[in-house]
Amino acid sequence: MNIPTPHINAKADDIAKTVLMPGDPLRAKFIAENYLENVTCVNTVRNMLGFTGTYKGKKVSVMGSGMGMPSIGIYSYELFNFYDVDNIIRIGSAGGIADNVKLRDIVIAMGASTNSNFAAQYKLPGTFAPIADFGLLRKAVEAAEKLGIKTVVGNVLSSDTFYDDNKEANSLWKKMNILCVEMEAAALYMNAARAGKNALCILTISDHVFTGEALSAEDRQNTFREMMEIALEIA
Ligand code: ADE
Repeated sequence: MNIPTPHINAKADDIAKTVLMPGDPLRAKFIAENYLENVTCVNTVRNMLGFTGTYKGKKVSVMGSGMGMPSIGIYSYELFNFYDVDNIIRIGSAGGIADNVKLRDIVIAMGASTNSNFAAQYKLPGTFAPIADFGLLRKAVEAAEKLGIKTVVGNVLSSDTFYDDNKEANSLWKKMNILCVEMEAAALYMNAARAGKNALCILTISDHVFTGEALSAEDRQNTFREMMEIALEIA
C-alpha cells in the first residue's frame, strides 16, 4: 500500500525508525512538547496525533495508539509495514493483578497473554505466544537499573474488555502468574512478529483490579515520567 495510509497522513520520511506509543494522542503531544526537540506534527488523521523530534540528538516519533487491540493493530501495522518503522514501544497504564504488583509499579511485558481472537487471522495450527523483542526488553531493564527505577518483568494480559461480565476472569489469570491487565500489547507483539520488527510494552500500574485502588492524576503524571525516561533512553 502507498502512503499516506487510510489512518496516517505523514510523508515517507516523517516518521522515525522508533515510535513511542501512548494510548492517548494528547499524551503523545505532551511527550513531544516536553521531552523532544525540533518537533513537527506528522499525523492528524482522526486526531490520532503523531509527532517526530529528537531526543539527545536521535530522531524519535511519538504517536497515539488509541484504546484496544483493533486500534493499536491498525496503527502498528501501518507503521511497521508502510512507514518502515523498526521499533514500537508502547507506554501505557494497566490494572494490577499479581500480589507483587502495586500501584505506581512499572511492569515490562515480556509476554502478552490474551482473550482476543487477533491471532486467528494467521490460521496457525496451535496457540501463538506474543512476546516482546528481547533486545528492547534487555535495554529497558538495563536503562531502568541505571536510572534507579524498579521494574517488574513478566507476563501481562491484553484484554478485549475493560468491563467484563465474567467476574472470575482476573482470578483465573492471576493463577497463571499474570502481573496486570491492559488492552493492547498482544496485538502489537503479533504485528511485530508478523512484520519481522520489534516491539516492547512498558506499563505503569494505575489501578488494582482486586482492591479497587487507583492513582490520583498527580501520581499518574509522576510514574508516567519514569516510564517515559526508560522508553526514551532505549529509543
Ligand atoms: N488499563 C489501566 N487499567 C486497566 C484495567 N483495570 N483493565 C484494563 N486496562 C487497563
